[in-house]
Amino acid sequence: MNTLLSVQGLSIGLATRGAKASIVDDASFEVGQGEVFGIVGESGCGKSVTAYAVAGLLASPPLSVESGSIMMGGVDLLSLPPSRMRSVRGKDIGMIFQEPMTALDPLYTIGEQIAESLEFHAKVGKREGIERAVAMLGKVGIPEPRRIAAEYPHRLSGGMLQRVVIAIAMINEPRLLIADEPTTALDVTIQAQILDLMNGLVRSNGMSMIMITHDLGVVAETCDRVAVFYGGHLVETAPVDRIFSDPLHPYTEGLRKSVASIGDRDGKLYAIPGSVPKAGSFGPGCRFQGRCARRMERCGREAPPVSIRPDGRSVRCWLYGEEA
Ligand SMILES: Nc1ncnc2c1ncn2[C@@H]1O[C@H](COP(=O)(O)OP(=O)(O)OP(=O)(O)O)[C@@H](O)[C@H]1O
Ligand code: SF4
Ligand SMILES: [Mg+2]
Repeated sequence: MNTLLSVQGLSIGLATRGAKASIVDDASFEVGQGEVFGIVGESGCGKSVTAYAVAGLLASPPLSVESGSIMMGGVDLLSLPPSRMRSVRGKDIGMIFQEPMTALDPLYTIGEQIAESLEFHAKVGKREGIERAVAMLGKVGIPEPRRIAAEYPHRLSGGMLQRVVIAIAMINEPRLLIADEPTTALDVTIQAQILDLMNGLVRSNGMSMIMITHDLGVVAETCDRVAVFYGGHLVETAPVDRIFSDPLHPYTEGLRKSVASIGDRDGKLYAIPGSVPKAGSFGPGCRFQGRCARRMERCGREAPPVSIRPDGRSVRCWLYGEEA
C-alpha cells in the first residue's frame, strides 16, 4: 500500500474553564492511495474532530491539536500556515458533510458555487468554470445539469443537494475526500444511491476517501479498511472483512453483534450495555472497562497500549497486550 495520509500519535484537547479535556488521545492510522478508509464509533467518540484536524478545520479555540503529526504526500499539514491550508483544502482534500446546506451558500446559484471553487484553486475563468460545473453536475447524476446549475440551493431536495456538495468536493480532483456522515441526513432510499455514487467516483478516479459513519453497514458496503474509535481512543484498525469475521477488540465485537442482530429471527436488537462516558471524564485504565464483558483486574488500573498484530492490524486492549 502506498501511503497518502499518515496520522501519528494525534491528540486533540478541549479547553474548558481552567482545564484541558482530552477529546482524542494518541490516534495513529494511515490511508493508502486509492483506499477507502472508514472511521466508525458511537456519537461523541471523536470521529469528526479527527477528520477536521486532518482538514485543518478544528474549531480552535476551544479545540486544539496537542501533539502528533499529520502528513499527506510528504507534507506536514500541521506546520502549514492557515493560508496554505486553505489551498490544500478544496484542492488536495475535499470535504463532504452531513448537512449539505451547511456547505452551500443560499445566495449563489449551484453553478456559481461549483465554479467558484475552480476559480479559487485552479485559476479558471468564470465562463469555463460554469461549463465545467455543468459537466460535473452531470457526472454526479443530476438530471438537466444546465438548468440545475442556474438554480439556488433551496429549490433542490436533500439528495440532490448532497450530489451538488459531492460535485464541489470533487471538482478540483482532490487526492483525498473526507466524508463525514454524508448520508445520515438523507432518506433511506437515497442513502444507497449517494454511497454508490461516491464510491464509483472515488474508485474510478483513484482517489482516497475517509468515510466517517456510526453505521457498520455503510462500512461493509464502501470501505477497504476501518478504524474503530471509542471514547477518543482508536481501539482497532483492520481490513473490513476481518472486522466482521474476526473482530479483536471487545467493543468492535459488540458493534458487530449489534449489526448482526438486525434481521434476527427473534427480532431482538443487541445493544452494547451502558453508554460512553463523557469526553474528558475517563478514569485510569481502559476507557471501555465499564461496558466490557471481558474486563480483567488490570484493565481498571492501566490503560492498554496499542499493539500491532503480525498481520498489521492494531488493537488497544489488554487481551492482546505484550504481556497478555
Ligand atoms: N466545537 C466544540 N466545542 C466543544 N466540544 C466539542 C466541539 N466539537 C466537538 N466537541 C466534543 O468533542 C467530542 C468528540 O466530538 P465529535 O464531533 O468528534 O464526535 P463524533 O464521533 O463525530 O460524534 P457524532 O457521531 O455524534 O458526529 C464530543 O464530546 C464533543 O462534545
Ligand atoms: S483492556 Fe480490558 S476492559 Fe478494555 S477492552 Fe480490553 S479486556 Fe475489555
Ligand atoms: Mg461527527
